[in-house]
Amino acid sequence: MSNFVRIVEMSARDGLQNEKNLISSADKIALINRLSDTGLPSIEVTAFVSPKWVPQMADAAEVFSGITRRAGVDYPVLVPNIQGYERARSVGVEEVAVFTAASEGFSVKNTNASIAETLERFAPVLEAARNDNVKVRGYVSTVLGCPIQGDVPVSEVVRVAKALDELGCYEISLGDTIGVGTPSKAREMFAAVASEVPASKLAVHFHDTYGQALANIAACLDVGARVVDASVGGTGGCPYAKGATGNVSTEDVVYMLQGMGFDTGIDMDKLVATGQWLSDLLQRTNGSRAGRALIAKAST
Ligand code: HMG
Ligand code: MG
Repeated sequence: MSNFVRIVEMSARDGLQNEKNLISSADKIALINRLSDTGLPSIEVTAFVSPKWVPQMADAAEVFSGITRRAGVDYPVLVPNIQGYERARSVGVEEVAVFTAASEGFSVKNTNASIAETLERFAPVLEAARNDNVKVRGYVSTVLGCPIQGDVPVSEVVRVAKALDELGCYEISLGDTIGVGTPSKAREMFAAVASEVPASKLAVHFHDTYGQALANIAACLDVGARVVDASVGGTGGCPYAKGATGNVSTEDVVYMLQGMGFDTGIDMDKLVATGQWLSDLLQRTNGSRAGRALIAKAST
């Protein structure tokens, strides 16, 4: 199995979307440009979603147009429908991510659509993307628990991941949106999906509500996961999922992976400096502090 783990950086989108006070476009652009200099291979930039639903992402076009794209780095953006796809394409986006869930309640709360309806919305996005040579990533949320229904059957996660694979997503990210998973359940869930969709096409996306994210990642690495979503400073959360706190911090993930002998291509010093910069920014903007892990590191 490969020794390389690809990190997909979430801070500019998942990390900021839940911030109550608006962060300026210039600060978002500065964050992404700093991240581009750390060796991260993929940086999710923003979301072309409804600005009424997520006001923090209303400046998606401005942010994407303002960043300096570095050769060899992917800059995906979230799109919920063809309208979002067209907005993204008009500013030159070359990779998009569609998102649905493994539980009906969350799907409706997050996108005003059932799981089946979200998949119907994605079909024209995938078709346009194929014609435009645009890569499409897919997310399945609530893979280890739902804020509305509680337990989520693994069979539903497998069914939805398979549907995204069949639609043509090149990679499917499995999201523990509210961070309720524990290692054996995470391993079981990943292995079940990997029995239907090749593990090389899967990513893991853990929120760290109960401090389980690193352990969950380690468990999934054992069964073939080699793509990990993470967010500097441990920032993150979904406005439509009560209890969703920060994503696992990129600094912690890279530290763990280095210790386990994996390669990520990321410069730890630059990563920590960027996380510290973001933490300072959020503290100035609204008093919130990014990432307990980062703060612990900064004080040592
Ligand atoms: P809706 O209200 O049902 O949409 O929302 P609609 O199609 O009925 O349209 C209503 C209005 O929205 C219209 O405008 C449309 O033009 C506009 P109006 O005529 O009223 O002025 N509209 C749009 N505007 C801009 N961009 C668009 C767009 N689409 C419609 N793309 C919709 C449906 C999907 C749009 C809405 O529910 C939405 O934007 N939801 C996004 C919620 C969100 O961003 N959640 C967070 C991201 S997901 C996440 O965090 C999980 C993840 O991290 C993984 C994990 O942790 O599990 C990925
Ligand atoms: Mg998330």
